[in-house]
Amino acid sequence: MFQIKVKDGRGRIGKLETPHGVVTTPNLMPVIHPRKQSIDVKDFGAEIVITNAYLIYNNQELKEKAENIGVHELINFHGPVMTDSGSFQLSVYGDVDITNEEVIDFQEKIKSDIGTSLDIPTAPYIDEEIAERDLKITLKRAKEAKEYRDKKGYDLLLNSVVQGSTYMNLREYCASELAYLDFDLYPIGAVVPLMEMYHYDKIVDIVMNSVRNLPDSKPRHLMGAGHPMLFALAVAMGCDLFDSAAYILYAEDDRFLTTRGTYKLKDLNEMPCSCEICSKYTIDEIKSMEKEERTKLIAQHNLYVSFAEIRLIRQAIYEGSLMELVEERCRVHPQLLNAYRRLGEYVDDLEIYDPRTKKSAFFYTGSESLKRAEVKRHLNKIREMPKKRDLVLLPSYRKPYSKNIPKKLENFYVYGDETDIDLNSTDFMVVDIPFTLIPLDLDEIYPLSQNIAPKSKDLGAIDEVQNFLSEIIPKYNQVLINEKLIDDYNIELYKIHPQSDLIKYKYNDIDKIIAIANYQFGEGAGQALFNGKIKIEKSKNTGKIRHIYDGENNIIVNMRASDSFFILSKEGAKRLHKVFEYPKLRVVVNSDSEPFTREGKSVFSKFILESDENIRATDEILIVNEKDDLLGFGKTLLNHNEMMDFKVGQAIKTRKGFKE
Ligand code: GUN
Ligand code: ZN
Repeated sequence: MFQIKVKDGRGRIGKLETPHGVVTTPNLMPVIHPRKQSIDVKDFGAEIVITNAYLIYNNQELKEKAENIGVHELINFHGPVMTDSGSFQLSVYGDVDITNEEVIDFQEKIKSDIGTSLDIPTAPYIDEEIAERDLKITLKRAKEAKEYRDKKGYDLLLNSVVQGSTYMNLREYCASELAYLDFDLYPIGAVVPLMEMYHYDKIVDIVMNSVRNLPDSKPRHLMGAGHPMLFALAVAMGCDLFDSAAYILYAEDDRFLTTRGTYKLKDLNEMPCSCEICSKYTIDEIKSMEKEERTKLIAQHNLYVSFAEIRLIRQAIYEGSLMELVEERCRVHPQLLNAYRRLGEYVDDLEIYDPRTKKSAFFYTGSESLKRAEVKRHLNKIREMPKKRDLVLLPSYRKPYSKNIPKKLENFYVYGDETDIDLNSTDFMVVDIPFTLIPLDLDEIYPLSQNIAPKSKDLGAIDEVQNFLSEIIPKYNQVLINEKLIDDYNIELYKIHPQSDLIKYKYNDIDKIIAIANYQFGEGAGQALFNGKIKIEKSKNTGKIRHIYDGENNIIVNMRASDSFFILSKEGAKRLHKVFEYPKLRVVVNSDSEPFTREGKSVFSKFILESDENIRATDEILIVNEKDDLLGFGKTLLNHNEMMDFKVGQAIKTRKGFKE
């Protein structure tokens, strides 16, 4: 059983239940060698480990011992234990003397928590026919393992590994077939050779094409990815588990893992981090040690660093700064930057999983940031927005822009044929990086206000702005560009507008609240919510809008101070329900859930029958029954796909219910 607790992009904090306890994800499973393990990984924070069932099976003494006392006692780890099947040995030695059923039997017998069928780890770039042939066997064995386990009534949770080499059609096919068969966990296999070749961009393709075909409700494990430098990127693509033999293999080779890359002992003049080992020993002491002792200490450093990175990633998900961490990590090696740039090509998928609002501000750390979900989502909104006749483009002032516009606006240049500006039908937008065009009425909502970019502008960003302007400008009758923007964005000069002096932005509360509601809930929401007599109440301290009432002093919406989005009240929910047709903004719950929702209790995924496909995590939505009666309203914890797929855990934090 797996549940999502917190989300950031495709990254998620989850809880995985196993017979030997609950594991928080993302997490790292150190590989335990059943014979020669010298380090107790519990001391480094390991909550779950992985060992190799085939290595145990293949050694008569270990096999008997494991069958008698179980794998937990054998490796002296009493939390959850995952076992691999010998597939890796199969890929290295070409053969193993164990069948698929035997390996399932054996993993059950030694009381492994999570077992693996005998997949074929197909090498990258191999002939497509070979990859396809291998894949057929992998799929057949996965199916067979599942049927066998179910027939025997085993407790063993089952992995089934996504293969398909470097062919995306095969990866997609494999993932969707395995998804259909419904396993407990989904490893993504055969990426180790790509890691060794630094082909991280290929790993991005493989993970993204696999993950989008796997169920959201199951954990994914990037098999053999034990380098902490890669963890953040992999988590941002939806991976929940890693395993590491790297900590010991690298140590045996005198190599230190760090999030900046790998350091060879012989090249080090200083200990590379602040862990217990690096603080206690000098580099000269380590260099002069016997091999065995030195290996053990480097392995310990490697574990400290790896678990520190896992904790940092989880913290980043809690704060909503996962992508900032990924951007930082991906700058340590050009091939990682290449991989991050590749990830930008999957922005449409990432956008679906990105919460609409976060605790952290968006940081611009380079032109790659422009490919992030938040930017893409906003630009799409601007594309779709109904447009007034004319557009006035202003330079960026201090945020919030609308409160800091100078009285005198300098000259404007004209794009377009008309020369008379219709101030009654003009959109006012600020041009700024990274969100490009920010309508002044929306300048306080997340992330249009909650972002930071350097004042100096890079060519990548200028290019993006120019491209987007050339897309949007033709949609207006005429566009007036403030003089200050001309140099900043290398905009070609047109003639000065004769009425420059007349152009003034007039701030208006009603325009603002309508614009925000339309942006947040969809076109028409502003008119629906603020129809008739309304009263706007502002904070005495900040002057910001706080509550909006109807003519009878019922609150329609509250404005949240941190992101300026609206939180519905009963009246607001009723108004949106009346104007928007099913399924817009709806989550439909079954009749079991109806009385609880009406009481204002949170909605669990398993009660959800349908939902609006446009729902993202953190959205304010309406909860209805199958007849579209309004039962309540609340804030989503998951997106549409996730709430439809999960069978356990909360999906909506109900704000209020409507009693019958
Ligand atoms: N360990 C690393 N890669 C793989 C893989 O593709 N399959 C299995 N079973 N184990 C692995
Ligand atoms: Zn260290």
